[in-house]
Amino acid sequence: MDSKNTSDKLIFNENLRKWIEASATPFKELMAYYRSAIMEVETKFRVLNEELSLEYDRNPIETIKTRLKSVESIIEKLSRKGLAISVDNIEKHLNDVAGVRVICGFPSDIYSLAEAFLRQDDIKLLQTKDYMANPKPNGYRSLHLIIEIPIFLHKEKRMMKVEVQFRTISMDWWASLEHKIRYKKAVTVNDEISAELRECAEIAANLDKRMEDIENRIYDDN
Ligand code: GTP
Ligand code: MG
Repeated sequence: MDSKNTSDKLIFNENLRKWIEASATPFKELMAYYRSAIMEVETKFRVLNEELSLEYDRNPIETIKTRLKSVESIIEKLSRKGLAISVDNIEKHLNDVAGVRVICGFPSDIYSLAEAFLRQDDIKLLQTKDYMANPKPNGYRSLHLIIEIPIFLHKEKRMMKVEVQFRTISMDWWASLEHKIRYKKAVTVNDEISAELRECAEIAANLDKRMEDIENRIYDDN
């Protein structure tokens, strides 16, 4: 092994060790703040579900899934964006470290829940992507919000970003399977498969519409 290479590696390891030492605590703190923001958002949806279930005698929310982005994904995304790996850059440039997915029964539940959530005066809306009104070319449907929510610490109030995705059961089912299929590296998703996936998404959207019509008819009759 040549000695230049060895000393480069030693310097790299030393720098990495120093970076980990200096950043470990701030990184862990930041992740704890994101976890707290997830708890705040999840609670808001549980409260809305509770209230709406009393008012309409049914729960608009089927399930809530939450996730904190893994360290590997954080590093990969910063590198992909050409940004240095730093705690500041994570907070400044990544919108999806904290993720909350709200799965609803019917498409209209999504808009009414999102409106009720955004009306709350501590929520700041940063971005909306309505892939329900405008599905992606591959058929993907969902409503995405990037919001900021305060978390209250001992000595300060901190605004944290959270990505909220709203889907119906059928949108979620399609997205989960499409994700699995797309990431099976051995299989190339050719035009034919893409067209079929898009068609499945359209069938799922039509089913959502029909089920919602049935629900409305029953609701109107009573
Ligand atoms: P990322 O860099 O992937 O986080 O997304 P983005 O900044 O382009 O934002 P966008 O709102 O389009 O997507 C955010 C997230 O929505 C993704 O990380 C997925 O969880 C989900 N998503 C978006 N598009 C698709 C899709 O075509 N298929 C599936 N299965 N999920 C998708
Ligand atoms: Mg993402």
